[in-house]
Amino acid sequence: MIKKQINQKDSLDIELLNSIGYDYVFNNSPINRLKNQINNPSKQNENKHEKLIKLKEEINSINDCKLKNNASKIVFADGNIQSSIMIVGEGPGQKEDELGKPFVGDAGNLLNKMLSAIKIERKKVYITNVVNYRPPNNRKPEQSEINRYSKYLKEHISIIDPKILILMGSTAMEAILGSNKRISNERGQWKEVIIKQKIYKTIITFHPAYLLRKPDQKKFSWEDLKIIRKEINQQNIEI
Ligand code: URA
Repeated sequence: MIKKQINQKDSLDIELLNSIGYDYVFNNSPINRLKNQINNPSKQNENKHEKLIKLKEEINSINDCKLKNNASKIVFADGNIQSSIMIVGEGPGQKEDELGKPFVGDAGNLLNKMLSAIKIERKKVYITNVVNYRPPNNRKPEQSEINRYSKYLKEHISIIDPKILILMGSTAMEAILGSNKRISNERGQWKEVIIKQKIYKTIITFHPAYLLRKPDQKKFSWEDLKIIRKEINQQNIEI
């Protein structure tokens, strides 16, 4: 039996957990978070670093992929691996493919402005994409590609272990929540997403590239950004 402490406040469906195939022990007493913390942050960082290198190698060794075959290089991630905030976009564009970094083109400039509007410096968050290679002609990744890369994305999220997960755009939403959802219905609400048996506080919002095409939608994004800022304050996240 796997013993897993679940906080009293975590609203988990026991049936759902059982269906995943794990035995959980629900504790009635509060979790002692201090006791559970790994006391050595540099060791923790080192482990994260090693795991990220391994994940990047795994993605690098993907074969038979139209995205990889067309791209000039892998675009893995950018930012602070210790951040409590993780942002997931769709996939690299031309500039990202040239520089090997996510969100460095026009959409990236808008993302930076959106973050600074809620007093977040870009370098303090961690940013990645669903697919790590530029799709030909910047097309949306196909469903089979989203499915293929979502395995790596979930591993990536689990390694970074953020307190807040921000999914930008329908591709990021589909990679984590499945394909039968509409972003206009799902955006702007906190969701508890289970990845590798851990709950992640998650919000879906519009992708900056979509906002560049449809500036009239920015008002909804602004609402979402304020919700994100409120949660950062409530969780006392230093950013
Ligand atoms: N759009 C994305 O989704 N990701 C990037 O890195 C750049 C543009």
